[in-house]
Amino acid sequence: MLDTTATGLLPFPFGSPPGDTFAPLNAADLADLDAPVARVVLPTGERAWLITRHADVRQMLREPAFSADLGRPGFPLLRPIPPQTEQNRLGGFIRMDGEEHQRLRRMLTAEFMIKNIRRIEPLIERTVVDALASMRAAGPPADLIGAFALPVPSMVICHLLGVPYADHEFFQQRSRTLLDRNSTVEAVQAAIEELRGYLRALVDARTRSAEPGDDLLGRLIVERVATGELDEAELAGMALLLLIAGHETTANMIGLSTLVLLRHPESLAALRAEPKLAGGLVEELLRFLTIVRTGLPRIAAADVEIGGQLIRAGEGAIALLSMANRDSGVFDNPDEFDMYREAHQHIAFGFGVHQCIGQPLARAELRIALVELARRFPGLHTTVAPDQAPLRPGALILGLAELPVSW
Ligand code: HEM
Repeated sequence: MLDTTATGLLPFPFGSPPGDTFAPLNAADLADLDAPVARVVLPTGERAWLITRHADVRQMLREPAFSADLGRPGFPLLRPIPPQTEQNRLGGFIRMDGEEHQRLRRMLTAEFMIKNIRRIEPLIERTVVDALASMRAAGPPADLIGAFALPVPSMVICHLLGVPYADHEFFQQRSRTLLDRNSTVEAVQAAIEELRGYLRALVDARTRSAEPGDDLLGRLIVERVATGELDEAELAGMALLLLIAGHETTANMIGLSTLVLLRHPESLAALRAEPKLAGGLVEELLRFLTIVRTGLPRIAAADVEIGGQLIRAGEGAIALLSMANRDSGVFDNPDEFDMYREAHQHIAFGFGVHQCIGQPLARAELRIALVELARRFPGLHTTVAPDQAPLRPGALILGLAELPVSW
């Protein structure tokens, strides 16, 4: 990476202050950040506008002048990426705009509606209870990340999609490479190709089968591929996006949420006594942690004004969700964790057309995981000092490498 200090601009991404993993930036960066829409320099040497206020982030993410297309020259990148060939883009609608994005997203809307997620709550409950039983049988002590936080969302998304969980080592390893800021271009390209190859083979086998199956892949094969609306390579690309977005994020939230609750035993006790509090608690955890720490990158396709600042066509901008979720104009005492606050205005799932499609699923998983953990492990505690739990180095999404616990 380049020496970005020579530019005189504030280098992004920011680090947390020592001992406070949950804060989005340290005091020195905050002091240097001289405007709510500020110019920063990225590890690639590119410059970008950093948007930090809640209202400005919402305006930016609603604004059609901003494109999510990584392939556009000048797109703000935190690391070099492989060329955006047709092959690499297929099905990855998180980085598409307009009609191209809508066409693929629409095919999944019904699958992730709240009423359909309610139907799979019993499956989530079973998965959570079984994982906790295995953790208890193998310990104490245990690593809560490996024993609980990671397997639960991974098993659920595999079940939902129709991908064999037995292959989880294979896709989790490659998914880590994709989400690691320090991965080389070659490693990222290899991970994409291997994951695409794996999912393409799965889709092909299911397409040829007389019974494609009653899961998301099976339904899309019958309703979209067989009708000619979607081709198999696109479906493999969509499955790739869901597989990655669907387990790493929720797993990191379960792990970090547990750590927050262990640091706030009164909140954990309140949840144990009154599981109905879980809904509000989860919103506050989403706000407080905002695990998509490096923000949402876009490029202006036309001149546009955000928060009084003109952003010209061709310039990059990053919506910094973590700071917007601590905007004191919207949340009182934003740096405090308060499970009773009205946190629902948070934008931890993004905003606008790309807003997280999996949020009803993520909320259900978090709610059930935390309620059952609180209920079944009343003596849960960490065996390291809470500020010593190691983070995953280089990860684009904030998460713990491990959380040693006992009970
Ligand atoms: C707590 C867990 C999660 C968090 C914090 C989270 C966060 C986000 C955010 C911030 C975005 C917006 C990206 C952008 O605008 O560039 C997003 C998009 C997306 N998320 Fe999530 N997510 C979570 C869980 C999930 C789950 C469980 C799934 C799927 C099963 C999922 C699937 C997606 C997809 C497919 C998109 C792209 C939507 C689009 O471009 O239209 N996410 N997520």
